Amino acid sequence: MLNLRATLPIAARKGDILQLMKEHDVLVVCGETGSGKTTQVPQFILDDMIESGHGGYCNIICTQPRRIAAISVAERVADERCEPSPGSDGSLIGYQVRLDSARNEKTRLLFCTTGIVLRKLMGDKNLSGITHIIVDEVHERSLLGDFLLIVLKNLIEKQSSKGSRKLKIILMSATVDSNLFSRYFSNCPVVSAEGRTHPVTTYFLEDIYDKIDYRLTSDSAASLTHGTSARGQILQRDVVTKSRGKKNLFLSGWGDESLLSEREINPYFVPSCYQLYSEQTQQNMKRLNEDVIDYELIEDLICFVDETCSEGAILVFLPGMSEINCLHDKLVACSQFGGPSSEWIIPLHSTVVPSEQKRVFLRPPGNIRKVVIATNIAETSITIDDVVYVIDCGKHKENRYNPQKKLSSMVEDWISRANAMQRRGRAGRVKPGNCFCLYTRHRFEKLMRPYQVPEMLRMPLVELCLQIKLLSFGYIKPFLLEALEPPKVEAMDSAISLLYEVGALEGDEELTPLGHHLAKLPVDVLIGKMLLYGAIFGCLSPILSIAAFLSYKSPFVYPKDEKQNVERAKLTLLNDKVDGPCNTNDIDRQSDHLLMMTAYKKWQRILTEKGTKAAQKFCNSVFLSSSVMFMIREMRMQFGTLLADIGLITLPKDYQKHGKKIGSLDNWLSDASQPFNIYVHHSSVIKAILCAGLYPNVAAGEQGIAAAALSSLKQSSSYANSHRTVWFDGRREVHIHPSSINSNSKGFQYPFLVFLEKVETNKVFLRDTSVISPYSILLFGGSINVQHQTGQVIIDGWLKLTAPAQVAVLFKELRLALHSILKELI
Ligand code: CDP
Ligand code: MG
Repeated sequence: MLNLRATLPIAARKGDILQLMKEHDVLVVCGETGSGKTTQVPQFILDDMIESGHGGYCNIICTQPRRIAAISVAERVADERCEPSPGSDGSLIGYQVRLDSARNEKTRLLFCTTGIVLRKLMGDKNLSGITHIIVDEVHERSLLGDFLLIVLKNLIEKQSSKGSRKLKIILMSATVDSNLFSRYFSNCPVVSAEGRTHPVTTYFLEDIYDKIDYRLTSDSAASLTHGTSARGQILQRDVVTKSRGKKNLFLSGWGDESLLSEREINPYFVPSCYQLYSEQTQQNMKRLNEDVIDYELIEDLICFVDETCSEGAILVFLPGMSEINCLHDKLVACSQFGGPSSEWIIPLHSTVVPSEQKRVFLRPPGNIRKVVIATNIAETSITIDDVVYVIDCGKHKENRYNPQKKLSSMVEDWISRANAMQRRGRAGRVKPGNCFCLYTRHRFEKLMRPYQVPEMLRMPLVELCLQIKLLSFGYIKPFLLEALEPPKVEAMDSAISLLYEVGALEGDEELTPLGHHLAKLPVDVLIGKMLLYGAIFGCLSPILSIAAFLSYKSPFVYPKDEKQNVERAKLTLLNDKVDGPCNTNDIDRQSDHLLMMTAYKKWQRILTEKGTKAAQKFCNSVFLSSSVMFMIREMRMQFGTLLADIGLITLPKDYQKHGKKIGSLDNWLSDASQPFNIYVHHSSVIKAILCAGLYPNVAAGEQGIAAAALSSLKQSSSYANSHRTVWFDGRREVHIHPSSINSNSKGFQYPFLVFLEKVETNKVFLRDTSVISPYSILLFGGSINVQHQTGQVIIDGWLKLTAPAQVAVLFKELRLALHSILKELI
């Protein structure tokens, strides 16, 4: 290992780095991925401190954008130093990520996620115990990364004006524009490590496409044989020997490794020869477009490389976990990779457990070929040395703001040219490599943007603003304007006003107790508020489901022409006495959210009692998507651990550590005997919490605007109408979406609906809705204005309730009580 480390490009710059560190407070280190920045630079400092006898004292923090990288680097560095594993006795190396930490008071070099540093800032704004902060992968320009840079810049300026303690900062970046970072820190010096990569031959989709004999063994193969010349048939015979019984692939122009030379293949395989193929085959060929991820093509490419190309691992980039699992399943099922070699098809994404993850660095025995299927985590954070072949789908998942939902969610999009180059570079680490891009050259050269837009310019800033307040960094806008590339003023304004609306800020940008809790929950504020109140008001399990469905998507599928059947299935679900809402009257039927929650409850029970097959059958029978349900299960557990993280609920001991027995955590979270679940059978409580989370997304029927009398609303169905209700959202008329179970109702218990999403087509539609009681609005809604002359209570200037003044006063007091409950929980 020592020898290997000495040959890393960064090793040549050790002297410069240490020297410049002595002369300057800030230093930028850049170098190609794999040059040794992450593993070596922290050790340069550590060793220097130990050798120089500065009392040997240092306390180095190295931040990583992802938890999986923090853990794997810490383990690697401990290995390199022949130290016991991170965090154990006698090891100087440690790591800390959310829900998992391996460190002790002897730890001198800590690898952690950016979020952990921000949490440390909460304890000590000056980070006084720390001697060095290394911010790794700054080129990723993540929201938290850019945020941390503002904080560090302020710290450095403060310390140079005071001339006190010297905190040293090192920014590490892949090849991109390192001067940008240098300029930001008053033109600090930049050290770059020499690149050391081999040439990579790139094939774009059309290159692959041109050279593929994309025929199926079905009917089209017959017509193909029929339509081709003798030479074609020779090709086919050759194919049969290599056949995997399904479909065959030829690529040419790869020198010695190709099956046949380009000259031989071209007459048959350029797209202009379409006419040789049957219509079916032509369709299949056209299907090879860049918009969908073509698993079969990827599978074929992998098999082709495995069969015909020289030694070297294959690295496949896919956008996310579900795509990775899908390809993994296909490959394991394929004869070529089944059996022992299937162990060497390794998924790599952020939720792979560390022990499994380490396998990507191992070399397989004999002639087994390693195939790593990864997200963009393998782009810069994790380097796998023996990769020679890269297959790049060209896409990744990005956190994006969805203005319709007013939530951010992960969406799939094209990567930037810089990302594509990074991915390509992964193939040339040990010898000349090949990169297969599943997109066209045109896409790469003309359509991909050169760099990724920094998150700060494209993400909502709500959560970030809360952090600024929680850390008491003063007013939000001046702070954010100091960023490397500051966000737009409108983006900041809209974030700040949302924080006032949900009640996280009050007065002069002061954080409320609610805001305090929300700042500690790393989820969207609306969802966070719902979860928080769900736990406090004893209906956590249903709220976990609803919050998950709201953040992800509705589980119902609408097969063509089956709308009626879907509606019937929805009603059956609601009428179920065992799992449906307990008071099976009209109110409970008037909520799409309660319906989803019920569907989950039922699915979960079947899954636990009868197993996966029965659960799948259930899904099919009531038009639910099984994969959405499994995703919801994951998200419920994730939300549960987040709440445990801030101390709102206490997980049983076994669950403390991530990854252990995690499967049954979901059942524990739904256990009705838990204190956080005592009101799970009270649908009115659940709906009130829904209102707390979704407010101000309220629509009111005419009567809600023209004053709904609170007193008369007590009896059920008093708002029943023979004609259709017209709904308003404060400004305009809105309509209930036809897919909602409320869309056909004529009578509503209360003239108030909450919703998350508005969709604008020819009209404005509310997607999923729940009818809620005016009391929920009084307790959880916006500001109350009592008009004593008319006896009206006006909420947020437009929602009108006719209520005795005492009722309004009572609710104001209840609000104060809630405020103090939240305060006590801090
Ligand atoms: O940070 P940078 O991309 O510059 O490189 P690095 O992550 O420090 O990796 C340097 C080298 O260490 C890689 O080329 C790998 O050879 C090796 N490495 C490893 O074998 N196993 C690890 N878990 C991490 C790094
Ligand atoms: Mg690195």
